Amino acid sequence: MPQPAAKFVLAQADAAFAKDPYPTYRHLRDSDPLCHQPDGSVFLSRYEHVRAVMTDAQRFSSDKRVDFLPKFGPSPLYEHHTTSLVFNDPPAHTRVRKLLSPFFSAQAMKRMEAGVSANVDALLDRAAERGRIDALSEFALVIPLDLVCDLLGVPGQEREPLRHWASVILGGLEPVRTPEQLAAGNQAVLDFKAYLRDLIAAKRRRGIPADQPDVLDMLIREHDGGSGLAEDEILHNCIFMLNAGHDTTTSFITNGIDLLLRFPDQKARLVADPALLRTAIEEMLRFESPLQIGNRKALAECEIGGEKFAAGTFFHLGIGSADHDERQFPDAEKFDVGRTPNRHIAFGHGIHTCAGNAVARMEATLAFGKLLARFPNFERAGPTVRPPRWRFRIIDELQVALNP
Ligand code: HEM
Repeated sequence: MPQPAAKFVLAQADAAFAKDPYPTYRHLRDSDPLCHQPDGSVFLSRYEHVRAVMTDAQRFSSDKRVDFLPKFGPSPLYEHHTTSLVFNDPPAHTRVRKLLSPFFSAQAMKRMEAGVSANVDALLDRAAERGRIDALSEFALVIPLDLVCDLLGVPGQEREPLRHWASVILGGLEPVRTPEQLAAGNQAVLDFKAYLRDLIAAKRRRGIPADQPDVLDMLIREHDGGSGLAEDEILHNCIFMLNAGHDTTTSFITNGIDLLLRFPDQKARLVADPALLRTAIEEMLRFESPLQIGNRKALAECEIGGEKFAAGTFFHLGIGSADHDERQFPDAEKFDVGRTPNRHIAFGHGIHTCAGNAVARMEATLAFGKLLARFPNFERAGPTVRPPRWRFRIIDELQVALNP
């Protein structure tokens, strides 16, 4: 097991930390829960502190216009990340969130569910013929990518480049990045914008449907009616939705498969009692939270854990650590598919709580429900390969034998 460093510096995160951050997180929670970083920022690792900051959007800002400037310079990545709702405060945030909310209603969810169910069946039919499945490219990636592309009206044959664009744009948020990675991220924002401009033009030529418009149709209609978002806001919020909507859910499903392989007793429990699926899904989100690190900036002087911080202090929110905090979760290092209560914060908390959380839960319920029902004896057919990424908990490769 890797030994935690004496002093944790996020900007110097290494491959061992990417592979298994949990010993370091535990050390921080116990010995340095308000961990000061050399650049003046602070890494929070305890559940109580992380959740409290997420809850108080009046005192802790998500707006990144000042803090991302030295990180990205005036660049396409800067423009993108500072124009997405997740990195905006009210009222800009409220306006976009309100426009999107009808697409995540119970009724909208029902419509999406039928498509996801058919997609999972088709993927498993194909895999059954081969007797094995590439958990990432033949399963976990396809389900959310198809869903979120349907949600925004991206045609089937045009989806291929999205995976790469998402990976390098979100990769730009990692604490450690090479100049090449930044250049690739900037290029991807430009390519993605050009693609969406063409898609918007094609939609306008075809005419925006009055009945059941997709998200992009609705944003175009509001814009053309004079009350909606500006064109750049439409482009960047769509890029964010397409990226956030599939990358995290892909990680959720691959990490979930990996967990069932690492803990065969819990897999056997779930196979024997499928009613545990609901709590199992929540435990997967807690145990390997797909977004491990968030952030906020104090707008006024504040106190956390008995220490005073000046206005302007930047906080890294250790979501992955908070979700392993023994102070909140008894036996936190145990993966328990029946765990209840389980108030994890994998989807965040407060006004920025993940807009797509019910969508992600629905996708995982269908993916795991059907996978376990059809192939209860699935086994590992290769190692779990993780890239050096820290903010996002990603699996690059995982081969599975289905043993039908
Ligand atoms: C397991 C999968 C997912 C995880 C772990 C996840 C995680 C998160 C987290 C932690 C946030 C809040 C970030 C913050 O407070 O700074 C967030 C925001 C958001 N997520 Fe997700 N997400 C997932 C899936 C999705 C899906 C499927 C969609 C859309 C289809 C989506 C759309 C959004 C949007 C629009 C926001 C911004 C909300 C706001 O700022 O008001 N996410 N997500």
